Amino acid sequence: MKTNKLKNPKNQEPKILHINDKKATKKLIKEGSLAYSTFSKKRIDYSWDFNKANTKEFTHCFHSYPAMMIPQVARRILENYGGKARLLFDPFCGSGTSLVEASLRGINSVGTDINPLARLIAKSKTTKIDIQILDLFLHDFADYVFKLNFHPENAHSFKPPNIKNIDYWFSKNSQIKLALILNYIENINDEKIKNFFKVAFSETVRESSLIKPGEFKLVRIKNIEERKDIDVFGLMTSKLSRNRLGLIEFQKDCPENVESSVYDFNSVVNIPSNILPNQSVDIVLTSPPYGDSRTTVAYGQFSRLANEWLGYEDANQVDKKLMGGIKKKKQSTFKSVVLNDLIDTLASKDKDRVLDVISFYLDFQASIKNISAVVKRKGFACFVVGNRTVKGITIPNDEITVEFLEENGFTHIETIIRNIPNKRMPLRNSPSNIVGETSTTMRNEYIVTCQKQ
Ligand SMILES: C[S@@+](CC[C@H](N)C(=O)[O-])C[C@H]1O[C@@H](n2cnc3c(N)ncnc32)[C@H](O)[C@@H]1O
Repeated sequence: MKTNKLKNPKNQEPKILHINDKKATKKLIKEGSLAYSTFSKKRIDYSWDFNKANTKEFTHCFHSYPAMMIPQVARRILENYGGKARLLFDPFCGSGTSLVEASLRGINSVGTDINPLARLIAKSKTTKIDIQILDLFLHDFADYVFKLNFHPENAHSFKPPNIKNIDYWFSKNSQIKLALILNYIENINDEKIKNFFKVAFSETVRESSLIKPGEFKLVRIKNIEERKDIDVFGLMTSKLSRNRLGLIEFQKDCPENVESSVYDFNSVVNIPSNILPNQSVDIVLTSPPYGDSRTTVAYGQFSRLANEWLGYEDANQVDKKLMGGIKKKKQSTFKSVVLNDLIDTLASKDKDRVLDVISFYLDFQASIKNISAVVKRKGFACFVVGNRTVKGITIPNDEITVEFLEENGFTHIETIIRNIPNKRMPLRNSPSNIVGETSTTMRNEYIVTCQKQ
């Protein structure tokens, strides 16, 4: 089924369809984008598509990441709701899109993510570096590579780190060259510059590995010969210079005293009060996962090889630690009428699969409770969510998010539905977990805004 019909066909002025427009509602339900139509504050707005927009400005170019928020969406949310904000919080910051946009507007920010690679990218994208010093390191690295290219015999003394199945994922050529780059990085004594190099290295690891391009999960390419002699040093060098330009652009536009910090606490469990006291946050701007990593987006698998090369412990355990990563054993009910209805319907179809769904939403519910407590009165919670399908049933994450937030003292302001022309998302997944059985996943995104009373 094609669901990409919400595109504005003639590129006209943005057309806003209110959900209490019966025809539009019917169309959305037919396309699987909407399960309920009770929310008159929900509308489609083509002007949020940002079709053909450059999503790689500033430090947004540093590293790709699954299900990235596009900067234009974060920017516009901040234009609409971040006017007086002094502190932004992103509890699922991933590669840090919202943190970068907050910095550019002069808003201090705090982000957290359980995935070490996400934290490294987010931190590096919001860290200012003296470009003259960076250039000294870049020249020095170029010399290092030059010498190795002319004396390849020096290269073979380097051993790659102890990575599980390394020969399955990397050719010998890539292993040696990556080990040489890592050796250079480990000797950098300036933390900020070290992180800058690590980010470029992580993308180099991915692109010089045998992972199928465009795949989030660990799937190997068929023709491994084609990557045998890949130019690993060339890849690293081009990423470093691309990111240098992004950093210069970022530093030019970023106000002086703005601060951004990235942590690794899990908001499902607790938000440390020494980092974010109750009622300290003006705006939450985040895009949470759409479901557990096993059946939706595998953030941990996407990052595993880079995390292993960079020496992060438990690199293969990340997916288990994310929301819904640990499967609960029994049914529960929720503070969401929409969700309870869905759980009943799903349970009648598949008693085991429903436990995956319950496990994710129990975590999400707990996280929203903790997040709500740190938001100031009159502060905003802006959640960019996608809906998903389980056993042929659309799960309206936007409506569930609204209900969870309302339960914690928020009022729903609006939900905007946008197309996602740019976002790197798996368009198909296997909701039944049967290999080969696929269903179209999200092509629209929902920007849910609520205000704390
Ligand atoms: C949709 S991605 C965020 C993408 C981000 N907005 C960006 O632009 O890159 C969701 C993120 O939530 C993180 N995550 C999942 N469960 C988490 C939890 N319990 N605590 C913190 N982060 C979590 C994942 O690691 C992932 O990076």
